[in-house]
Amino acid sequence: MKVLITGGAGFLGTRLAREILKRRQLADESVDELVLADLFPPPTSLLADPRVRASTGALIEQCTALRDESFDAVFHLAAAVSAECEADFDLGLRSNLDSTRALLDALRAAGNVPRFTFASSLAVFGSDPCLPLPPVVHDDTLPTPQSSYGIQKFMCEQLVSDYTRKGFIDGRSARLMTVVVRPGRPNGAASGFLSAMVREPLNGQDTVCPVSPETKVALASPERAMEGLIAVAEASRDSLCGRTAVNLPALTVSVGVMLDALAQVAGEAVRRRVRFEPDPVIARIVGGWPAAFESIRARRLGLDPDTDFISIVRQYLADQALELPSRP
Ligand SMILES: NC(=O)c1ccc[n+]([C@@H]2O[C@H](COP(=O)([O-])OP(=O)(O)OC[C@H]3O[C@@H](n4cnc5c(N)ncnc54)[C@H](O)[C@@H]3O)[C@@H](O)[C@H]2O)c1
Repeated sequence: MKVLITGGAGFLGTRLAREILKRRQLADESVDELVLADLFPPPTSLLADPRVRASTGALIEQCTALRDESFDAVFHLAAAVSAECEADFDLGLRSNLDSTRALLDALRAAGNVPRFTFASSLAVFGSDPCLPLPPVVHDDTLPTPQSSYGIQKFMCEQLVSDYTRKGFIDGRSARLMTVVVRPGRPNGAASGFLSAMVREPLNGQDTVCPVSPETKVALASPERAMEGLIAVAEASRDSLCGRTAVNLPALTVSVGVMLDALAQVAGEAVRRRVRFEPDPVIARIVGGWPAAFESIRARRLGLDPDTDFISIVRQYLADQALELPSRP
C-alpha cells in the first residue's frame, strides 16, 4: 500500500508517519511506501527508513505531479494554522481551501478512489449571536465557525464529503481537539500558549499565559490525536455512520488545572515561570472555541479522551528524545 501524508514534516505529520511505520500497516494492509509532502523536508530519522520519500514544495504546486501517482491512502494535514489565517486571509485561502481542492482533483484524476482522511479542527465550532454554542458540543451540533481558519476547515470537510458522495474518493474528516504538548518552537496557532505554558517552563524558560486561569479548553495528547486519525482512516464506511466529520474525544480542563498538573509533575518553581498577561485577541479566539464534547461516534470507533492533564505532561517528557520537525 502506498500512503501520502500532506503536512508530513509538521508536528502531527511526523508523529503520524512514525506511528504508521511502527505499525507497518493500515487497515490490515502492509504499508510499502510512505510519501511525506510538505513545504519543508521531514526529519532525517524518518527519511532514513527505506519506505519513506519526501516530496517538498507547496502542495498546490505538487498536485499536477500527484495526478500521476496512485495512492491507496491519504492523510491531508498540510494547512496554515489559526492565527496565520487570521493575519493573512489570502494565505489561509490558498494553503487551506485552494490546496485541498487541487489535491482532491489530483486524486480524482488518478481515478483509484483512495481512502482520504482530512485533519479538521474543533475551530469549525464557534458562538454565533443567534446560535450560541451549547455547553457541550454533541455530534449533531451545527458548526458555526468564527474564524477564517475554522471556515476553511468547514469548507474542506464539505468538499471531502461531496467528492466522497460522487465516488471520487473514500473520504472522511476527523475534527481534532487542541493537541498538547507541541514540542519545539511555538507555531502560528492561537492556541500555541497551551503548549508553551508547559514546554517553556520545563525547559527553564519564562512564558506568558494570555487567558485567565478559569478558561476551559478541549485538549488531546499527541498519542490520542494519532489514535483518532488512524481509527477514522481505518473505519469502514458503515462504522463511520455517514459522511459528516467525526468529533474526536476531548479532555476538558481549565488553564489553572493545567498549571496544577505542571506543578505536580515538575514542582512549584516551574509553575511560577508562567505569568498571566491578558491578550484580548487570543482570549477572544480561544474563548470562542468549545471546551466540552460528547463524542459518541468517536467512542463507537473505540476512541477515548485522555484521562487527565498530568499524564499529558508526562507524555511530553517521555517524548523528548524524538527528533523535532525540521521546519524553520
Ligand atoms: N495541532 C493541533 O492542535 C491541531 C488541532 C486541530 C487541527 N489541527 C490540524 O492538523 C493538521 C496538522 O497540524 P500540526 O499541528 O501538525 O501543524 P504544523 O504546522 O506543525 O504542520 C502543518 C504542516 O503543513 C505544512 N504546510 C502548510 N502549508 C502548506 C502548503 N501550502 N503546502 C505544503 N505544506 C504545507 C507546514 O510546512 C507544516 O509542516 C493541520 O491541518 C491542522 O490544522 C491541528
